[in-house]
Amino acid sequence: MCGIVGYLGRRDCTDVLMDGLEKLEYRGYDSAGIAVFEENNSIKTVKTRGKLTAMKEKLTVEGKPLGHCGIGHTRWATHGEPSDVNSHPHSNGRVTIVHNGIIENYAELKEFLTDKGYKFLSQTDSEVVACLLDYYYSERNPLRAITETLKELRGSYALGILFKDFPDRVYAARRGSPLIVGVGEDESFIESDIPAFLKYTKNYAILEDDEIVCLDNNGEHFFDVHGTPIQKEIQTAEWDVEQAQKCGYPHFMLKEIHEQPEVVKKTIDSIVKDGVPDFSGIGLTDDMIRGFHRVFIVACGTAMHAGIVGRYAIEKLARLPVTVEIASEFRYMDPIVGEGDLVIVVSQSGETADTKAGLELAKTRGAKTLAIVNVKYSAIAREADMCINTLAGPEIAVASTKAYSVQIASLYLLAFRFAYARGIILEDELKRLTAQLYKTPKAIQDAIDQSSQCQFIASQLINTETLFFIGRGFDYALSLEGSLKLKEITYIHSEAYAAGELKHGTISLIEQNIPVITVATQKHILEKTISNMEEVKARGAYIIALCRKGTAFAGKTVDLKLELDFGDIDDMFVPLPTVCALQLIAYYSSVLRGNDPDKPRNLAKSVTTE
Ligand code: F6R
Repeated sequence: MCGIVGYLGRRDCTDVLMDGLEKLEYRGYDSAGIAVFEENNSIKTVKTRGKLTAMKEKLTVEGKPLGHCGIGHTRWATHGEPSDVNSHPHSNGRVTIVHNGIIENYAELKEFLTDKGYKFLSQTDSEVVACLLDYYYSERNPLRAITETLKELRGSYALGILFKDFPDRVYAARRGSPLIVGVGEDESFIESDIPAFLKYTKNYAILEDDEIVCLDNNGEHFFDVHGTPIQKEIQTAEWDVEQAQKCGYPHFMLKEIHEQPEVVKKTIDSIVKDGVPDFSGIGLTDDMIRGFHRVFIVACGTAMHAGIVGRYAIEKLARLPVTVEIASEFRYMDPIVGEGDLVIVVSQSGETADTKAGLELAKTRGAKTLAIVNVKYSAIAREADMCINTLAGPEIAVASTKAYSVQIASLYLLAFRFAYARGIILEDELKRLTAQLYKTPKAIQDAIDQSSQCQFIASQLINTETLFFIGRGFDYALSLEGSLKLKEITYIHSEAYAAGELKHGTISLIEQNIPVITVATQKHILEKTISNMEEVKARGAYIIALCRKGTAFAGKTVDLKLELDFGDIDDMFVPLPTVCALQLIAYYSSVLRGNDPDKPRNLAKSVTTE
């Protein structure tokens, strides 16, 4: 979703803002803009619909703002179409702002402000914030204007604010949307995410909900929602600059796919002690595990698909009932959840609004909560009772790849420990399973080494407008993820079905040469899956099968086969290598269609609105 940057220091502000916005491009956006104080203390704003290339062109035409203090924004449209006028920053009266989030009561605020004589230029909800700040601004007191304004706002926001009277200050505030304060030497930053300022400083403070910061020439000053000064802990980022760069790959997505053997191993290493998973460090003891009657896994999109793999693993090994819930449904369905339940929330960004709301609901109902989160400093990581910090490193491409793999690796390890704590397996088996999981990085690498076959499959889909994925059990979970990955970056219509479910309606859509990608890795249900392949083949489908090396299919059932060498790993773990092949098929299909797989249309990386 929208990205926010702000800078005060000795460097060329426009360069720093543009550089920061480039690092935040992964969040998804449709327009961009900056506002910088120039020498005569006037604010110069340049903004445009479109990507940062359009912004750069506009900066050349209109002249680059020259100064040392300013704010910038990439906008992902919510209220009002992507257009120059709806792009941020928005100015009204003496205030200029950038905003990430949604002001839910903007209509009533707009009416109030219109009555007071304010004129609105854009269709955005954000512009009301600029007007409201101006309305409350008096006696040259920006902090009071901010605290009064925040009292009136409903919804979510991260705000960067300039007051015309203070050319050497950047203010910021947040509720619900992320905002990090970068602490450099004689320079300060506000940014939606750490990679945006990593090049300049690794030191940062997290602005919490209802906190305000003022950057001035003496550093960073923090306040609570009432304007009372507060102290903040300064932390040091563990990520380095290279992790947030393409390092020779044409796209972040490809780089991130290739990182999977390493990040899966790193994540397993961080959980395993003496050959077995150990969660005591995060407060999850065997005693506690024995007290759980049910598990809910709550997440969105790819993270929810990882939850489905987790469900199969936990139920299979630990015989504990698990339900996987789409977070946006869970939060509003009045779920029967409470004491004795464990709610696992899974999120790469740790900022997804619906997942965060699901977590908060589970907490208020008395359930124990465990987050599996990739961004250590995120809201979900900090709010959950316990947190597994996955070690994928920054995931920049919008389509999630390596984060999915480390999420399922963590869920497997939980499943092992649950099974052990509940007395279903003994230590020997716990060790065996852990050793099996340690074999997956090699299998993942072997799957990635099949890139050229994945590319060939992608080339066969070049004229495809619609296709299906089918599979059973773990293969069904993979089908859901393979289908999501493909559709989000190629824009091919795709649906995933449990292989046995297809004939209950959807099979009517199968006609001559419709591709059906069949994931057929699970030995114990292979025959059943083959029967389903035959059913669609008989109706003209073009079948692409992903299977274990050496799997034989009778006659002409399969048109194209990708055999994956899983070595001797249990079927339960093959989602890890198999998903890499599915990711690569999606990646190459996207590239062959001339799309940018890193920045698919309409999508945002971190979905901080519901
Ligand atoms: C798809 C994708 C999304 C995210 C979803 C949840 O490739 O990336 O479906 O998985 O928006 O995001 P997080 O994991 O940040 O909560």
